[in-house]
Parts: sequence; structure tokens; C-alpha cells
Amino acid sequence: MKNPQISENIPYDRVRAVQWENDRLSLIDQRRLPGRTEMVALGHLPECIDAIRDMVVRGAPAIGITAAYAVVLAARDRYRTDPAGWRSALFSDLELLAAARPTAVNLRWAVERMRCVVESAIGADPVALLLAEARRIHAEDIAANHRMGTLGMALIEPGSGVLTHCNTGALATGGYGTALGVVRAGFAAGRIGPVYADETRPWLQGARLTAWELVQENIPVTLIVEGAAAQLMKEGRIRWVIVGADRIAANGDTANKIGTYGLAVSARYHGVKFMVVAPTSSVDMTITDGGGIPIESRDPAEVLNCSGTRTAAEGAQAWNPAFDVTPATLIDAIVTEKGVVEAPSAAKMRALADS
Ligand code: MRU
Repeated sequence: MKNPQISENIPYDRVRAVQWENDRLSLIDQRRLPGRTEMVALGHLPECIDAIRDMVVRGAPAIGITAAYAVVLAARDRYRTDPAGWRSALFSDLELLAAARPTAVNLRWAVERMRCVVESAIGADPVALLLAEARRIHAEDIAANHRMGTLGMALIEPGSGVLTHCNTGALATGGYGTALGVVRAGFAAGRIGPVYADETRPWLQGARLTAWELVQENIPVTLIVEGAAAQLMKEGRIRWVIVGADRIAANGDTANKIGTYGLAVSARYHGVKFMVVAPTSSVDMTITDGGGIPIESRDPAEVLNCSGTRTAAEGAQAWNPAFDVTPATLIDAIVTEKGVVEAPSAAKMRALADS
């Protein structure tokens, strides 16, 4: 299987952030967007762990896919160094990799899929088998996004305004995107009218990445500061808030970029619908509810500075949780590639997992 190609038949699907090229992993450096579109080529596991931690690549599914290719690189190095004992060294590598970012469950999910291949590759050079699995994970993610785009946009009344948060597009996935995949499909079908993106402080995924992606696709986008979201809803400009997920617990509680919970509270108050779009690789049935989801705490410097320049008063401190949890009761629909769960509950999530 080759790198998942961009299909001519699917409109608004031109961006790929993760590629396997010339026996290395190639990533768009998302820290540099939108100013510069720079690719970085990674040949070894430690570089991949740094790239995930430092957010060269980010977004739950993209982190998982990156991890899958990182296992290929790690296995290649370990097998070359020690063809007899490579497996036990690789198992330690997998633990380090899985710990690179704590909230997005896709990372652990992808590492476990790769671990199964490592365990079955007894006595053989594992690299070809692992590369085939990484490519499968990548291709499956894009296919899931196309499917979720179709399912999600079918819930939206024609011409609706929508607000999205963070970046959930091609940059955050194997391609096309989750919530932004619904925006792409809905815009192509005329179901989505005005698209609003919020800046997504402090890392500005909305202003820098979502706006960049939509501009690449010629989909008009209007940026707002997060503080404008409630007013946007009050003025009746949007009918749906559409977001992604880093981890969905067994009862439908959903961890996503900080600020998502506030949008859900505001949406319910204003009668705006709230949609979570995520592949089943983001669902963690081992966690009963959102209280058990580990929330990444990032460097306060991200809040105190903007683009490397100190903006906060000297002496001030900052609290910087990267994610929050939206209770299932505030979610109107969870859209996955396996189907739509309306008004999610533990029973409905169990039925989805078993389907
Ligand atoms: O810190 P980030 O940029 O990795 O956070 C990303 C998000 O919160 C996304 O909404 C989520 O991962 C879904 S991406 C399809």
C-alpha cells in the first residue's frame, strides 16, 4: 500500500500533513504555519517523540499516525543493531512513545496496534510488516474522515452557520479531518453556509491552522476571538458548534482542546446544537467517564507569551491546561465512522463499540 493519495473525486481534500517518503517520515512543521510551509524529515524514534511533544505534529489522529510510522523507524534501528534481541529494546521504545502526550488516546491506540504486529513478527525482519500496518492505519483514518464528513453533514440544515474550535482538519489527521471534514463535506453540499473558527488560545490552532487549511481549499472562513463565541450564538449566526475529540469516555464525556466545554455550555444556553466528530480510535471504553481522562498541562510560557514575545505583565503566573472535558449531556451528537450517536449515553456508546 502506498501513501494515501488525494482523490480527485472528493472536493476540498488537498492537504496532507503526514507522509512516508524516501524511507522517512515527513511532517509539515505546524509550529511554522501559516507563515512558512516547511516539511521536516524524521529518520529515528527520538526525533518523532520530540515532534509529538513539541507540536510539530498535533491533533489526536495525526499523533497516532505519526506514532505508527515512528514505530517503523524504531524497529528499523533496533533490528539493524541487534537482529536477535531487537524486540525487547523496541518494547521500551513503545512505552516512551506512548507517553509523549497524555490526553489523545489515539497515540496509545496506534502504538498497541503496532505492538501486535511486533509480537507476530517472530524471527523475521519486521520493517516491511510494520510499514504496511502504519500505512493501513493512515489510510483507514482518511476513509473514516470521509465517512464522518458524510454522516455529520447530513445532520445539518442547509445553509447553516457553524463554529469550529482548534484545528481538526487535514493537519490534525491523516487527511480531510474530523470536525473540519464535516465542514468540508457540508460546504461542498451547500449545507454549511458561514464558517466561523475561533482563534484557540494559547497555541492559536484556529487562527493559524484552521484558517490556513480553509484558505488553501477556498472555503471562506471568519475568525473570532473565543470571547466572541457567546455573542455569535446570541445573534443567531450559527446553528451548530462542530468539534473534534482527543478522548471520548465510555459514557460519551469528551476531552478536547481547552475551551470546548465553555462552547458546549454556551451552545446549550442559546439553543445551538453541539456535534463531536471523532473516529472510534478516539473512544476509550476503559474509562467510565470524563473524570478519568488525563488532562495535559502545558508550559505556562504558552499563555504568558505570544509568538515568542512576552505579552503578560512580568511577575504574573499562568495556568495552562491543554484540554477540558465536555459532559455527554451537553453533546447532541457524536459522529464516528461506525455511525452517529445522538444524545450519547453509556448504553449507546457500548452499542457503538459492539457494532
Ligand atoms: O493540542 P492539540 O493541537 O493536539 O489539540 C488538538 C485538539 O484538541 C483537536 O480538537 C483533537 O485532537 C481532534 S483533531 C481531529
